Amino acid sequence: MDDGTGEYLAALFAPEDETLLTLREEADRSGLPPISISPDEGRLLQVLLRAIGARRVLEVGTLGGYSAIWMARALPSGGTILTLEIEPAHAEFARRHLARAGVADRVEVRVGRALDLLPALDGQRFDAVFLDADKEPLPTYFEWAVRLLRPGGLIVADNALWGGRVLDGRADDEATRGVREFNRRLATDPRVTGIVVPTHDGVGIGVVNGGGSVVSDPAG
Ligand code: SAH
Ligand code: DHB
Ligand code: MG
Repeated sequence: MDDGTGEYLAALFAPEDETLLTLREEADRSGLPPISISPDEGRLLQVLLRAIGARRVLEVGTLGGYSAIWMARALPSGGTILTLEIEPAHAEFARRHLARAGVADRVEVRVGRALDLLPALDGQRFDAVFLDADKEPLPTYFEWAVRLLRPGGLIVADNALWGGRVLDGRADDEATRGVREFNRRLATDPRVTGIVVPTHDGVGIGVVNGGGSVVSDPAG
């Protein structure tokens, strides 16, 4: 969207406050990679979390806590986020800025490799899982999300278009293959109803089926 549409929508629906602006400035100064979600994606997450009344959210890939702040602001009182981050320096930065944002009481940053931390969550129930870390294991993250989510729970994944590489027949690296396989499951796995919205770098969204009394599933 180079015609101004994206700027119009972001300015109207997703203006950043001083907390979020300062976080991004300090992240740049600290040498964190500039790969936080976009403001309109943050707003989309808020709408989705509110739509399902989410209270318990799992995030994979904290970075500086930018997306966690957007999500925390959409939770009801008593709502919590558990966010997993492999880089201790990112986690430390995030904890500082989550405190500055006044949401430290509702966001726990846990340090480690996601595939090592996820088994400890088995048996817990989340309302939403936001996947925004490494891309190679996305099919495995998909399976964990379905396992940890309640019926009617939400899977959201950043970078579902992976800079266009998912549709580039010549791209065949591990990360691209991971995103492609994730999207294939989102599209075809009978346990979820999914779509990719072309916001930012593509936002994969899936709802775990089985929450309501679906008489006939138009998706087959
Ligand atoms: N959600 C963040 C951006 C995340 S960037 C935001 O929008 O603000 C991706 C993050 O995932 C980086 O901080 C990276 O260190 C982390 N990461 C990469 N591989 C990981 C893994 N295997 N386990 C946990 N975190 C990982
Ligand atoms: C990368 C990861 C992301 O989550 C993102 O939004 C952009 C880039 C990366 O690993 O290169
Ligand atoms: Mg991302």
